[in-house]
Amino acid sequence: MVKKLIAGNWKMNGDLGTALTLTREIVAGIDADPRLAGTCDFLLCPPFVHLARVRANLGQKNIESGSVMLGAQDCSEKDNGAVTGDISAVMLADCGVQAVILGHSERRQGHQETSELVKAKATQAHKAGLIAVICVGETETEREQGTHFKIVETQIKASLPDGANAENTVIAYEPVWAIGTGKTATPEDVRSMHKFIRETIGNMRILYGGSVKADNAADLFSTENVDGALIGGASLKSDQYLGIAKSV
Ligand code: 13P
Repeated sequence: MVKKLIAGNWKMNGDLGTALTLTREIVAGIDADPRLAGTCDFLLCPPFVHLARVRANLGQKNIESGSVMLGAQDCSEKDNGAVTGDISAVMLADCGVQAVILGHSERRQGHQETSELVKAKATQAHKAGLIAVICVGETETEREQGTHFKIVETQIKASLPDGANAENTVIAYEPVWAIGTGKTATPEDVRSMHKFIRETIGNMRILYGGSVKADNAADLFSTENVDGALIGGASLKSDQYLGIAKSV
C-alpha cells in the first residue's frame, strides 16, 4: 500500500509557543501509535519564522526515517539577491525543510500568482532538492459554469516544471469553494476530479484539500486516487490532525 501523505498547512496562525506545543503533541501522537508510521507520511508546514524551531522538535528518529517532514508555505522564484521579504528554496533546504507548498489559492488570488510564477517557484524548489506541493483548484463560479476540469488541467500544465515526477512533486486538489468554508466536495466530485488529474499527471501523489476533518477523512481516503490530504484549520488541533491520520 502507498502511504497517505497527511499534510498540515498551518497558514499564518499561531505564535512560537503554539507551534511548538502543536508539534510536540503531534509527534507524541505519532510515536505512541506505531501503526501510523506504517500507513502515513506526515508533513508539517508552519509559518517561515517557526520552521527551525519546529524542526528541532520533530525528533531525530522521525527526521531520519523521513516519516515526519517539514514544509514551508511558499518560496521565491529567484535564486537570491535584492528581493526584499522573499525566502529562497535553498534557504529553506538549509534550515531542514523538505517540501514547499506552491500556488495555494490564497496566493493565486491574494497575491495574483500566475501558474507561470508557480512553475518558476517549483523549478527553484526542485533545484534545491525540495518536494513541490503544487495546489490547483477551481472557484465556485468555475464549477457552476462547468469549466472545472479545464481550469484544473490548465493550471497543472502551466504550473509543473520540466522534470516534475512522483519523487519531487505532489499535486493538491483544493476546490477554492471548499477551503475554510466547511463545505466539502462530494465523494463523486472528488472521485471524478482525482481520476482526471491522475490521467493528466500519471503517478504523482494527489492530495485533496478543503475542510478535511477527522469525521470526513475516512470517506476521502477510501476514494480512488486520493493519496492524502492537505489540511488547513483542522491541522491546528493535534487531536483533529491525528484523527485524520488514524482514519487511513
Ligand atoms: P481548510 O482545511 O481550513 O479548509 O484549508 C484547506 C487548505 O487551504 C489547505 O491548504
